Amino acid sequence: MQKFTLTINNNKVEVSAEPDTPLLWVLRDFAGLKGTKYGCGVGLCGACTVHIDGNPIRSCSYPVVAVGNQKITTIEATDNEVTQALKHAWIEHNVPQCGYCQPGQIMSATALLESNHSPSEKEIEDYMSGNICRCGTYPRIKAAIQNVSTDLFKEA
Ligand code: FES
Ligand code: FES
Repeated sequence: MQKFTLTINNNKVEVSAEPDTPLLWVLRDFAGLKGTKYGCGVGLCGACTVHIDGNPIRSCSYPVVAVGNQKITTIEATDNEVTQALKHAWIEHNVPQCGYCQPGQIMSATALLESNHSPSEKEIEDYMSGNICRCGTYPRIKAAIQNVSTDLFKEA
């Protein structure tokens, strides 16, 4: 076991783990942040998406030793305007069905809107294509993202 000091949602968190422990395990089991979900475990479904220094990564396939001093942001973060706007839009559009995939969807959508304030329909579909939803909420996800893009980033 090795000790790691991680910055998670702007808080310093100390954990002991094997260096190759996936970050998802550390978040859920050691840091108590259960919002990030385990889906496939092999980087294919996007349920475990969190941000590392603002970039979306699959935490099921990201060893804790690789985090270093980078900042981790999870669905529990409360200080991101885009994430908060997306959460409201998710409610407005009744996006979640079983809800399981949705934290990962919102983290990917946040990364999309932070890098592209006004994505086209095709750009949304392409960017979000790595996040699988068994319940088929894709049209609602797209509408919610378009909604936030218009409301948050429209020209003054
Ligand atoms: S659980 Fe990580 S990509 Fe599926
Ligand atoms: S809402 Fe059920 S898997 Fe996406």
